[in-house]
Amino acid sequence: MSIALQELERTVGELTVPGKGILAADESVGTIEKRFKAVNAACTEETRRDYRELLFSTPGLGDFISGVILFEETLKQKSLTSMLLPQLLAEQGIAYGIKVDRGTVPLTGFPGEKMTQGLDGLQQRLGEYKQMGARFAKWRAVIAIGAGIPTSQAIAANAHDLASYAAMCQELGLVPIVEPEVLMDGDHTLATCARVTEEVLHAVFHALHQHRVTLECLLLKPNMVVPGAACSEQATPHQVAQATLTCLRRTVPAAVPGINFLSGGQSDAAATANLNAMNATAQSHPWALSFSYGRALQAPALKAWRGESANKINAQQALYQRARLNSAACQGQYTA
Ligand code: 13P
Repeated sequence: MSIALQELERTVGELTVPGKGILAADESVGTIEKRFKAVNAACTEETRRDYRELLFSTPGLGDFISGVILFEETLKQKSLTSMLLPQLLAEQGIAYGIKVDRGTVPLTGFPGEKMTQGLDGLQQRLGEYKQMGARFAKWRAVIAIGAGIPTSQAIAANAHDLASYAAMCQELGLVPIVEPEVLMDGDHTLATCARVTEEVLHAVFHALHQHRVTLECLLLKPNMVVPGAACSEQATPHQVAQATLTCLRRTVPAAVPGINFLSGGQSDAAATANLNAMNATAQSHPWALSFSYGRALQAPALKAWRGESANKINAQQALYQRARLNSAACQGQYTA
């Protein structure tokens, strides 16, 4: 077996430990600025460092979190005690990886649709991140639902780039976290989200196959099948679980070891309840179903922190609590 394959298998094994999930702390500067603004916190290199140091030094975080996705800036930042921030994670037995895409731009000729940037020079960057201890990498593609969209062209183009990135990661021994996100924005129904998500995942796995990506050595980070945020008919956790599992069974090969959902704008409580409903069903499924939440893990911690170091312990307790509840949801044992 090649060294890269052995490394990939070891990382997948660590990330998919039962009862643990992934914390997405990889917001770009622009995105974290929006989140900080909502709690009246200033956004500077220093406050971003302080906030992430707070998250990563949460006592006991490693009991529920197997991996953290970082933004490039964080890889090189040091704590107040001069320790590299990723080292704080390593000390808790948590693996770290990195978001490697460079955000989205409009897809020329397709109004309302987007492409993700970052393939140019990616091979070299992946090598550098690996040198710095990253074990996995994430790439997010975005699919919007609206009048006449998504088009099959946008789906195919995004699937192609996700597959190219995944192949490059595996070549270097980094586990790809493949994230095709069908957005919740809009008033579309649960059934529409199900139809679009099925089409997107089908295209993504077709592209992964064409690019000779080893399915056993990647994680999928999809959206759950939910109605649009503005849809008048919202869904129960049971309905979300049934629609999501139906979609995944139709499209995701059993070779894929783990599916770690994004939260995508669901409230933290809804994201936990929906994940729990999937794991509580009597039906068995071939993949570990877990989380890779950003907002749904961090929102209560951010609210408690508000940019003030005096609130650090409360914020850490809020993160710990969300991580613990989502861990329970991975085992179908969450109660609201
Ligand atoms: P959310 O859970 O907030 O959607 O973030 C996950 C993520 O990593 C988006 O790329």
